[in-house]
Amino acid sequence: MQKSITSNCLGQLPFAILISFALLISTLLCFDYSIFFHNPNSIFTFLLTKQETPFVILSDTTRLTKKIPDSDPCTGKYIYIQELPSRFNYDFIKNCEVLTEGSDRQPNMCPFLENYGFGLEVENSKGALSNSSWYCTHQFTLEVIFHNRMKTYKCLTNDSSLASAIFVPFYAGLDISRFMFGKLNETVKDSVGKDLAEWLSRKSEWKTMWGRDHFLVSGRIAWSYRRKIDNMSQWGSNFRFLPESINMSMLAVEASSWNNDIAVPYPTPFHPSKDSQILLWLRKIRRPKRPYLFTFIGAPRPQLDDSMRGKIINHCRGSRFCKFLDCSQGDNCYNPNNFMKVFQSCVFCLQPPGDSHTRKSIFDAILAGCIPVFFDAGSAYTQYLWHLPMNRTKYSVYIPVRDVKEWNPNIEKILLGFSEHEVLAMREEVIKLIPKIIYADPSSKLEIFEDAFDIAVNGMLEKVERVRELIKNGSDPSIGFADVDPYRYSFSDDQS
Ligand SMILES: *[C@@H]1O[C@H](CO)[C@@H](O)[C@H](O)[C@H]1NC(C)=O
Ligand SMILES: *[C@@H]1O[C@H](CO)[C@@H](O)[C@H](O)[C@H]1NC(C)=O
Ligand SMILES: *[C@@H]1O[C@H](CO)[C@@H](O)[C@H](O)[C@H]1NC(C)=O
Ligand SMILES: *[C@@H]1O[C@H](CO)[C@@H](O)[C@H](O)[C@H]1NC(C)=O
Ligand SMILES: *[C@@H]1O[C@H](CO)[C@@H](O)[C@H](O)[C@H]1NC(C)=O
Ligand SMILES: *[C@@H]1O[C@H](CO)[C@@H](O)[C@H](O)[C@H]1NC(C)=O
Ligand SMILES: *[C@@H]1O[C@H](CO)[C@@H](O)[C@H](O)[C@H]1NC(C)=O
Repeated sequence: MQKSITSNCLGQLPFAILISFALLISTLLCFDYSIFFHNPNSIFTFLLTKQETPFVILSDTTRLTKKIPDSDPCTGKYIYIQELPSRFNYDFIKNCEVLTEGSDRQPNMCPFLENYGFGLEVENSKGALSNSSWYCTHQFTLEVIFHNRMKTYKCLTNDSSLASAIFVPFYAGLDISRFMFGKLNETVKDSVGKDLAEWLSRKSEWKTMWGRDHFLVSGRIAWSYRRKIDNMSQWGSNFRFLPESINMSMLAVEASSWNNDIAVPYPTPFHPSKDSQILLWLRKIRRPKRPYLFTFIGAPRPQLDDSMRGKIINHCRGSRFCKFLDCSQGDNCYNPNNFMKVFQSCVFCLQPPGDSHTRKSIFDAILAGCIPVFFDAGSAYTQYLWHLPMNRTKYSVYIPVRDVKEWNPNIEKILLGFSEHEVLAMREEVIKLIPKIIYADPSSKLEIFEDAFDIAVNGMLEKVERVRELIKNGSDPSIGFADVDPYRYSFSDDQS
């Protein structure tokens, strides 16, 4: 399979589009790395064949009888992929021209779905990356990445009765990406999700646990499927409020307030296929001198000067210790050559909430060994419980902002207060996190490291196992399963 290597993730972007981009950005639902892709260019033609790779089932599962021997390393780990009609996944990719990522400008999402959902491969043009396995990865393609990775999961089974969990490869985020803007009737917006829920509940696999062993993955934030009001102007679908969907769990790049939504890391641009590539990267990232104390990488929101983001940008611009990289310029925040170079040259990386609590940038910063600075507990601490350490002071700085209007950023002073020894200890913790927050290339296998996929799958298997125990014990599995916790992301200033 030939990969197209690119040096500019945005292609030939006309200047006029950039200007309108800057003007539009405050009103659009585009997250920090929203991609305005001007293109259709033949070299970006989507390589469909890769998506059509048949499920790879490891041969050692063929010899299994119903009774799994205790010595089987896959005991308790078998996953069954529910094979769906293509209208629930591959057709969205085939018709990628109609997908938008959160703007009314119809950026071309097709290139971002190439290479297992990693996007186009980029060359290391500024020395800020390593030599291979770097891509223009879009923030919203995790469902495609995860599905491709699942196809080479070591404990797949074709026999659903052996499976500990059922993976449902519905591309829920791509589904709603067809209707990001424009007033559309809910019946149309919600129809594919509704169809999927009904389709699943008719399958024999459903009956075993009424869907409580089923899980989905979403490349968009979980709020996207929690639309409560039926109003043509309301964004998102009602998918997660459907009775069948309530019985399932969803992994998403940001969780909602409901307990059956669980957060997993956004995809970063690094997708190594070998442990050695990770080791090389960790060595590189320990080395560079970091001339700046801190950075903010993001797009200004022109109408929101009084927002946390506006204040942070002003503070950064006014500090000689801070490097600001403006995401509304060129492909600064699309091309890893640009943002990884900045993250690497800074000790701390500011991560205020974006249009939602979380940002892809958090994981890109960690990947560069930059210590994240959070302002909202919902940006990471209460989200990525499986992937980030409990003790947040070890790897991050927390500057709680109770009232943005009253807030006077004194970030520079706070960060200058850390000793060199403390900084080194924190950076070492951040570097240790790197393998856990990347999604490895499914075409080969890591031996030493567990990546974000492995951790997410283990977490899900344990979660389903707890529900199975409850059912065995005669308890009602629905208790707490899909409850809403309105305080899940509420302000927390406890410094422990
Ligand atoms: C699973 O099913 C697929 C498709 O029918 C088949 O190609 C594959 O060999 C099966 N694998 C096992 C382990 O039974
Ligand atoms: C990376 O590529 C450069 C330029 O081709 C080469 O000089 C260097 O040795 C390569 N590094 C590694 C670790 O392969
Ligand atoms: C939505 O659109 C469908 C198909 O065009 C139509 O049948 C239905 O009546 C519409 N519903 C509403 C509430 O407008
Ligand atoms: C739907 O949204 C429009 C525009 O925001 C608003 O004017 C209208 O009152 C809403 N209708 C309902 C039923 O909520
Ligand atoms: C959801 O699970 C409960 C059991 O926990 C079951 O009674 C209910 O029928 C399930 N809902 C659907 C739509 O299958
Ligand atoms: C958290 O980490 C900090 C810094 O390493 C340490 O001082 C503190 O004791 C830890 N707290 C807990 C509860 O482990
Ligand atoms: C189920 O019951 C067993 C034995 O009474 C107990 O050890 C276990 O903790 C229970 N599991 C759950 C999930 O309640």
